[in-house]
Amino acid sequence: MSTNPGFDGLPAKFAQLGLTYDDVLLLPGASDVIPSEVDTTTRITRNISARLPLLSSAMDTVTESRMAIAMARQGGVGVLHRNLSIEDQAAQVDLVKRSEAGMVSNPVTCPPTATIGDVEELCARYRISGTPVVDENGILLGIVTNRDTRFETDPSRPVLDVMTRMPLITAPVGVSKDEALRLLSTNKIEKLPIIDTDGRLTGLITVKDFTKIMEFPFATKDPHGRLVVGAAVGVGEESYKRAMTLVEAGVDFVVVDTAHGHSGGVLEMVARIKRETSVDVVGGNIATRAGAQALVDAGADGVKVGVGPGSICTTRVVAGVGAPQVTAIYEASLACRPAGVPVIGDGGLQYSGDIPKAIVAGADSVMLGSLLAGCEESPGELMFINGKQFKSYRGMGSLAAMQTRGDKKSYSKDRYGLQDVGSDDDLVPQGVEGQVPYRGPLASVAHQLVGGLQAGMGYAGATSIAELQENGQLIRITAAGLKESHPHDIQMTVEAPNYSRR
Ligand code: XMP
Repeated sequence: MSTNPGFDGLPAKFAQLGLTYDDVLLLPGASDVIPSEVDTTTRITRNISARLPLLSSAMDTVTESRMAIAMARQGGVGVLHRNLSIEDQAAQVDLVKRSEAGMVSNPVTCPPTATIGDVEELCARYRISGTPVVDENGILLGIVTNRDTRFETDPSRPVLDVMTRMPLITAPVGVSKDEALRLLSTNKIEKLPIIDTDGRLTGLITVKDFTKIMEFPFATKDPHGRLVVGAAVGVGEESYKRAMTLVEAGVDFVVVDTAHGHSGGVLEMVARIKRETSVDVVGGNIATRAGAQALVDAGADGVKVGVGPGSICTTRVVAGVGAPQVTAIYEASLACRPAGVPVIGDGGLQYSGDIPKAIVAGADSVMLGSLLAGCEESPGELMFINGKQFKSYRGMGSLAAMQTRGDKKSYSKDRYGLQDVGSDDDLVPQGVEGQVPYRGPLASVAHQLVGGLQAGMGYAGATSIAELQENGQLIRITAAGLKESHPHDIQMTVEAPNYSRR
């Protein structure tokens, strides 16, 4: 072992000081910046930008399609968890990609032989209000919407009997946005089928998509106007199949999501997906410069940082491994920045003020678990405990997430390298189960988080994320400084929407 002095005169074995969110504050800088006017646009991956530097965690109590849709509408991005079958995860991708679009290029349809019951089931599954009816050659025969079925009492009646038949108001392939909107509004219709010269259905434009554009002007969209979504995969052959299926379903980026991204399996997986597809690939998690460099060298389009900072993580106490998150982000950025690869700071954020801290340390975006698990859109039911509302939140390395329950197989074990553990009794968990207070809809939670980030940018004098990264300065604080940071010498009587004691 080298005896060269390391940090603060310690041997080289202890070469570094590790700092995390509570250890630092962002110094105020000279500023004429008005918080509401800052631009929070950032890169999530090499090729995907978002208006907000926020991702929702790939966890089964945080991100399924509903959260992913809500996140993208707000201007962030959701990453679908992988603790479910390949088919179910691909179906979640499909739900997000279909939720709104400039034009749906392969709309949900039904044959004329379908029953009213079949159509109602389709509509409930895809949260749509009706479907075009096509024959076996894809020729448009009519359209069935809830207007046609509302007063029907017999679910076994064929759709053919109740649908609105051709000729309908349609548009040709290549119709412009303006013309589509004109056709929808002048004819007072909600769905505009697009047909080719043979009458074959090639797409569908809905009025909902136009209203959503006005309602969510900053939504994160792909070049076709569909919401952007990411999805997590693991390592190995089965996960490779998963990745290919997700790509087929239209996912915008895949995240090779493991507890130890600086490992052969992850690097190989990143390189393999990059070789075989054109989809962006994020690799993780790592907590060192060398780990980040390895992922960059493997071709990653984004590097996810965080070993053990998560609120539900026990990796640092169970395995004794990790690096405080602000230092980990900084170290990773030293490898990623020169390569032009965005850094995602994953886990450990407790308050909105941790977002600008992460960005100054070198992150381009942050991934949130506990801060979003209490949202209306996260999976799971509301629980009432002593008159207060909660939602459950659990680590993907917790026993509950890794156990096989009845015929419900767990797909979470390999995140922690436990894929070869046959019996649930032999699992060594690296996470815990718990609950977080119910926070209401994501829109209001995101509003507070972004408001905090904007305020931080205002104090730092930064008009953009790049300026915040470049010019922001952190100051290390002591335990007394942290105590001073929180409300003190007062008994809080009213809960603020963006602050509660943990
Ligand atoms: P927060 O602090 O936002 O962290 O709740 C969310 C992140 O924690 C990671 N994660 C885990 N890490 N054991 C771990 O060591 C676990 O069981 C676990 N589950 C999730 C993950 O990176 C997530 O985004």
